[in-house]
Amino acid sequence: MATYSCRSREELRVEFKKMIARYEDLKHENLKLDMSRGKPSKLQLDLVSDMLTVLTDPTECIIDGNDARNYGDLAGLKCAREYWADVLGCKPEQTFVGGNASLSLMHDLICRAYTHGLTDSERPWCKEARIKFLCPSPGYDRHFRITESFGFELITVPMHPDGPDMDVVEELVQDPMVKGIWCVPKYSNPQGYSYSEEVVDRFANLKPAAPDFVIMWDNAYCVHEFDGEFEPFRDIISLCAEAGRPNMVYEFASTSKITYPGAGISVMASSEENIKYNLKLIGVQTISYDKINQLRHVKYLQNKEHTLELMKKHAQIMAPKFEMVLKILRKQVTNKGIAHWHHPKGGYFVCVAAMPGTARRTLELCKKAGVTLTEAGATYPYGVDPHDSMIRIAPSLPPIEELEKAMNVFCTCLKIAALEKYLGLTLEQVIENR
Ligand SMILES: Cc1ncc(COP(=O)(O)O)c(C=O)c1O
Repeated sequence: MATYSCRSREELRVEFKKMIARYEDLKHENLKLDMSRGKPSKLQLDLVSDMLTVLTDPTECIIDGNDARNYGDLAGLKCAREYWADVLGCKPEQTFVGGNASLSLMHDLICRAYTHGLTDSERPWCKEARIKFLCPSPGYDRHFRITESFGFELITVPMHPDGPDMDVVEELVQDPMVKGIWCVPKYSNPQGYSYSEEVVDRFANLKPAAPDFVIMWDNAYCVHEFDGEFEPFRDIISLCAEAGRPNMVYEFASTSKITYPGAGISVMASSEENIKYNLKLIGVQTISYDKINQLRHVKYLQNKEHTLELMKKHAQIMAPKFEMVLKILRKQVTNKGIAHWHHPKGGYFVCVAAMPGTARRTLELCKKAGVTLTEAGATYPYGVDPHDSMIRIAPSLPPIEELEKAMNVFCTCLKIAALEKYLGLTLEQVIENR
């Protein structure tokens, strides 16, 4: 069948009527389905239940001569720092193991940059008249919100399948007001893109005008393949050091999507000098993080290799859901010229680029039919998608049968929104004129 743009007005009217009838049928099902946030499913949470009993004997809390139940080890238990160094490919001394959320570590780093500066010799960002921050988009809404909350000017950088547009990044960092950039280097949220070697090299070799420019390297999906083998990634910390700017990057990760979101452990990794500097300020805020949870995680996850085995079990649950989403998209939307998408091999999302000007309307129609997706625009700075096109689908939470229903609603709404544009007529107008 031809793309919508090649069809006659009459053919489009026939298709529109068909889709409206399908939409009305779907609405009668009174669905209540949620594909809005990347939460693991109950099956995934049940997969790691041994976490809850892995540490039952108090004598096991004495580790490396220290008692995990007491204050101390501000940078994290030695074994937890070794665990993260193994996963990320850096050195234990370059890690700081935090609490239940890497997002808090990112927020607090930006906060320290604002109040105290990123090193002893740099002035705090609050003293600057204007601060700009680069936001490869579509990207993660919560990243953008952190920098927006401090009043920074958010600058959109286009995303490509191999990472952010580095020509644009290299040009923008010539401006000393540009203080940093958000990055999700593996299975980016929401497109599922992984940065190419060249892009990673260009990041490590950036020469920003601001001496305290920071790369926020959020490796949230570093071991999260659901299709195929583990894809190794390079250690950005040593790459930046080799390129002569060891203090330019901070890497983040957590076990939120390995064990329990909101009850896992997180890490911030950077040069030893940066970690030492941050420890001084973190020591004002807290005496130590929850080391019992750190110990529980190390006992359960053990090391990178063992973690990758667990991730294969997560993959068995995740893969059929992504396949379902992609199969329905392929079957119902391919060759209509109204949307395109990438087939990710890991991460938590599928991102559909709908015909410009139709994303918001698609989501509005979905909502009326009982299907909730991430708000339109959320993947862009200030929540505004300039083309009103990107839609993030999070398939992990609903059971597969629900996902199938939700995707049928989604594809129908996507087509209705496109047909409304082509015909200059809304679904409500058609129903009214019956
Ligand atoms: C890219 C990215 N970073 C960070 C997070 C949140 O991580 P945490 O639970 O460790 O705060 C998410 C959650 O969806 C994410 O997609």
